[in-house]
Amino acid sequence: METLHQAIEAATLQAHNIPETSRVLLLNAATKLVSALQTPEDAIYRVAYSPMQFMAMRTLHSLGVFKQIVEKESVTSTELSETTAADKVLLERLLRVMIAAGVVVESGISTYSPNAQTRSVSERKMGGMVEAIFDGQTKPMAGLPEYLEKTGYKNPLDPQDGPFQYGHNAPGESFFEFLSKRPKIMNSYSTFFEASRGSRPDWIDWFPVQEKLLDDASKPVTKDDILLIDVAGNRGHDLMAFKNKFSSKYPGRYVLFDQPHIIEDQTLDLGEDVEKKAFDFFKDPVLPDARLYYMKFILHDWDDDNCLTILNNVTSVMKKGFSNLIIEDFIIPMTGCKWMPAMFDLQMMISCASMERNEAQWMHLLDAAGLEIEGFYPPPGDGTGIIVTKLKE
Ligand SMILES: C[S@@+](CC[C@H](N)C(=O)[O-])C[C@H]1O[C@@H](n2cnc3c(N)ncnc32)[C@H](O)[C@@H]1O
Repeated sequence: METLHQAIEAATLQAHNIPETSRVLLLNAATKLVSALQTPEDAIYRVAYSPMQFMAMRTLHSLGVFKQIVEKESVTSTELSETTAADKVLLERLLRVMIAAGVVVESGISTYSPNAQTRSVSERKMGGMVEAIFDGQTKPMAGLPEYLEKTGYKNPLDPQDGPFQYGHNAPGESFFEFLSKRPKIMNSYSTFFEASRGSRPDWIDWFPVQEKLLDDASKPVTKDDILLIDVAGNRGHDLMAFKNKFSSKYPGRYVLFDQPHIIEDQTLDLGEDVEKKAFDFFKDPVLPDARLYYMKFILHDWDDDNCLTILNNVTSVMKKGFSNLIIEDFIIPMTGCKWMPAMFDLQMMISCASMERNEAQWMHLLDAAGLEIEGFYPPPGDGTGIIVTKLKE
């Protein structure tokens, strides 16, 4: 038992310094260990009370408490109460939960210090993620059991009449219509999209982009040709990462497409040379003859029929034998699905009445869209995979 304890302590110290695949393997093993060590009653209590933890986090985030703990390194509840105007006892009660959950360190009586999680949740992107998931998804989550009972436990499929509309009492408003009418929550979601990889490695760092996509002498790209179109790329974070990594070696233009209200006032500072285009992907084709079309977290928002309409506005302008469509989304394995993709799948159910797809479901959809799959590439760890496609010959 002593040796096991030492091995766990040693692994804990190295936890931030191990390759992604080993990190996820160890995390799964550790989760099983925690579950085996908990009594069954305790394990159920933990699940049942986890929304309280999130509620405390959301409230303290609104008050800017995590930022203050990080900036001051050590702060008391009296000081926090003075700067936030929140009741001291209330703050202590909420922070007690964060300490027990390992999000904040208790450095004395009613005194708080930061750790890595405090720093992370105080940062802009993670803060946006907390806002988006809490404000957008807790009501649909809370309403889901009742919604499913009323609908006879059918798999939700209608993006205008699903758990999201039920939870928010917003009949007929699809997820993206709902967001477009509520700029504050749209802004939180856009920040969440920027953060949605979490700490998982970017595809451009694990997928052999140059070897598979850029170095092909039979598909030359000049400075006047389009190298990459990010189809519904939101603020342009993925486009920028690609451009920063490859533009000095590979010529070509970059184009970001998204909804008008995103393109007009939500994008990052992308520089003069990135073209920005507003479109509705159900109606408007993107620009023709690009070398690469890239879609991340788009098709998982929609059922197959809507996906085929969206895909048609890309495939209709792709150049046969030249263009590739790169899809970045989860590829759910037939067994052993990890925690993160399983959670994203339920997130898609409650927000868009859609789903994450397995390999067979991707093959079915892409074949119907007239695309041939050059390869499925699973990621290291538990993140999104890459599907490289081209027009069928
Ligand atoms: C889940 S986000 C993914 C964004 C980005 N690709 C990423 O991975 O961060 C879905 C994107 O689809 C866009 N979108 C939704 N409906 C659209 C429509 N009808 N036309 C164009 N874009 C749309 C949203 O504005 C949003 O940027």
